[in-house]
Amino acid sequence: AWADAIGPRRILLASPRSFCAGVERAIEIVERALEMHGPPVYVRKQIVHNTHVVNGLARRGAVFVDELDEVPPGAVTVFSAHGVAPAVRAEAGRLGLRVIDATCPLVAKVHAEARRHAARGDLVALIGHAGHEEVEGTLGEAPASTVLVQTPADVAALPADRPVAYLTQTTLSADEADALAAEITRRFPDARGPHTDDICYATTNRQRAVTRVARDADLVLVVGSANSSNSRRLVEVAEQAGAPAVLIDGPADIPLDRLRGARAVGVTAGASAPPAVLDAVVAALRGLGPADLAERAVTVETTEFTLPKEVRP
Ligand code: F3S
Repeated sequence: AWADAIGPRRILLASPRSFCAGVERAIEIVERALEMHGPPVYVRKQIVHNTHVVNGLARRGAVFVDELDEVPPGAVTVFSAHGVAPAVRAEAGRLGLRVIDATCPLVAKVHAEARRHAARGDLVALIGHAGHEEVEGTLGEAPASTVLVQTPADVAALPADRPVAYLTQTTLSADEADALAAEITRRFPDARGPHTDDICYATTNRQRAVTRVARDADLVLVVGSANSSNSRRLVEVAEQAGAPAVLIDGPADIPLDRLRGARAVGVTAGASAPPAVLDAVVAALRGLGPADLAERAVTVETTEFTLPKEVRP
């Protein structure tokens, strides 16, 4: 397939790519909980949205559940990186669970903003995607005062009976969030918002890097699982930058037919996709014929988060 390309072949790696600090922290929390308490350690929802991560931890004794009523009373239970609504924390308390919270600190920050705006009496417009676990958690902070905004029509339908504040999900595409924030401030010029948006540093950097790579690529492969919001946004952002893009969970999903004639293939990975899976994708591409490897870096990340006290040495 790829061998049909005429002339030299090239793999362009986007940088930054793959794990962010919040995902690394969440995985380490489950690993440490398993070491300290032994299996089983219960995890509410997927710790991060990646099949390889979830399957690997499940093999080591993590038990993933959808809701807390599946957890035996008193058991060690980890909340996923996407965060939980206060009602979930309250339920864990009622069940006497030993909770270790792996909510990304940057998601927790958005929860704190939601509480602050709601306490002031504002209507909180949350820009995000319905059904995503992060959105469900943030909506749960002040359910009576928060409205999910996904389209300009949702902005037009916001009640105008009190001051408006807005927040965004951390893993949106910058363009999508900016467009809806602009709609909100057009209708409510005094709306209080974050400085620009709540999209996290890792989402921003991966989108900038894939844009850079997409300009020089005939095809972009985004390593990530189908339910990973930030990975799906990378596909959209690459396509907006002019390259066809495909989401693949691992090397087995490499679309051989799409490689035909592609001289430069861009490769990146969402914040929840392990570096080892990306490496396997690159190895598989190189197995299809000689190709040189180049990297396009837009920045260097140094963000690190401390672990919660329950799993600190
Ligand atoms: Fe946190 Fe952003 Fe990663 S919100 S989990 S740093 S994608």
